[in-house]
Amino acid sequence: MNDEDKKKLIKECLSKGLLFSPELGQKSEEKENIFYFENTKKINLSIQENKESAEIENTEEFLNKDVEILTSYGEKWKKKTIKDFFNHYSSRFKTLSQMLRRREELKGATAIKRISLRNQNESVATIGMVKSKRITKNDHILLVIEDLTGETSVLISKNKNTKEEGKDKSLYEEAKDICLDEVIGVLGNKGESDIIFASGLVWPDLPRGMEFKKSPVEEYAVFIGDTHFGSKHFLHKEFNLFLNWITGKIGSPAQKEMAKKIKYLFLVGDLIEGAGIYPNQEDDLEVKDIYKQYEIFSSFLKKIPESISIIICPGNHDPVRVHEPQPPIPQEYAKDIYALKNTYFVSSPASVRIGKKDNFKGLDVLLYHGYSFPFYADSVESIRQVGGLERVDKILEYLLKRRHFAPQHGSTQFVPDYEEDSLIIKNIPDILVTGHIHRSTTTIYKNITLLNCSCWIGQTEYQEKRGLKPQPAKATVINLKTRETKILSFAK
Ligand SMILES: [Fe+2]
Repeated sequence: MNDEDKKKLIKECLSKGLLFSPELGQKSEEKENIFYFENTKKINLSIQENKESAEIENTEEFLNKDVEILTSYGEKWKKKTIKDFFNHYSSRFKTLSQMLRRREELKGATAIKRISLRNQNESVATIGMVKSKRITKNDHILLVIEDLTGETSVLISKNKNTKEEGKDKSLYEEAKDICLDEVIGVLGNKGESDIIFASGLVWPDLPRGMEFKKSPVEEYAVFIGDTHFGSKHFLHKEFNLFLNWITGKIGSPAQKEMAKKIKYLFLVGDLIEGAGIYPNQEDDLEVKDIYKQYEIFSSFLKKIPESISIIICPGNHDPVRVHEPQPPIPQEYAKDIYALKNTYFVSSPASVRIGKKDNFKGLDVLLYHGYSFPFYADSVESIRQVGGLERVDKILEYLLKRRHFAPQHGSTQFVPDYEEDSLIIKNIPDILVTGHIHRSTTTIYKNITLLNCSCWIGQTEYQEKRGLKPQPAKATVINLKTRETKILSFAK
């Protein structure tokens, strides 16, 4: 089996989310052996004489080491029960509370059930998932939080509306932003019966002082999203300019020099416009057939040099389930793109490692299309006040602080398919890239590069109704050696 066939097989595996695939093994020309894949590893099995069992013989990495897929979720079909949802939320609670317990002030956090054993006015620290939140008639904030042992009330007094040194917001202002189902640490004093008068709140957040990793080699990664090919509003001219730049045909001498050093292109979902996504969408379609949409889009990607690895995650316009985690775009729809040697399909969310060298372990990029963002733009007061959807940077910071892409139940659709909640931001990336709301933003939060991608579609009536104000035809470029970020505009 040559390397090309192997690459094709691993793409099939990743698109189906297969961890074990006897069928793929049977395609092997190594007749006496069977193999299966786990992420980028090929596991060779030697078949035992009775042919009913197999032993792991060896494992080997064989995907292009320039792109290592760290996490990508496939589709698992299984009938869901209430127990799956219970397990989903309890595993989320356990993972996030473990993160919180690493914080100095929560090392001795007590289970909620044990708070009742404490004396009145005694100091307490605990961790809980927010069950309810309301404003009392005296304008205080009253939460009910729960863990696996019980529940308790937490009062955040409006008198805590003074900023402490080193804090951006007062405790009361921070508490106003709390959403349901997020997991927080509470510090305070026990009141009469089961209530805590809060003096501090702790979020899982990112630790301080994380390394701002830089590659020893000058290479570039380009990030785009929401191309929406197939729509009448697709920006043909602008996208062509982008392709002309990335293929080294146009640009200033410095931009051409940069283009030569591009090693990675990220496409963060909504590659095509799709069909049947919203009412009367057919009126907005230039290419009505979704197979044709991918076929034509593949002809654009074919122009990109093979030396550039293209990493693709799905969005809500691509033909995969909307429920998160969204599996990679299936091969049957995008077979011409799968056929390209330099494409990698992953889920949303997913994480990949790029730029690995002998003396550098590479940079981790977390991709998430961004379906939950409008909910937080509308419902979190501090984000709404500074511009809502126009401040994706604030939405990203809000979610990173909670270490979850959709902390409140209902803010996105999800499937509890995995043992652990796949929307938890468990491993901290160096770069977080998102899209969906068609606005171009870059910022640094605690040494993480946060970026939201522009789009390649003009404003449709539907988007206008949803309050989307696009900033189209921009590509974000990161120099992996300096971590400097540039936004290049191809707008006409
Ligand atoms: Fe989208």
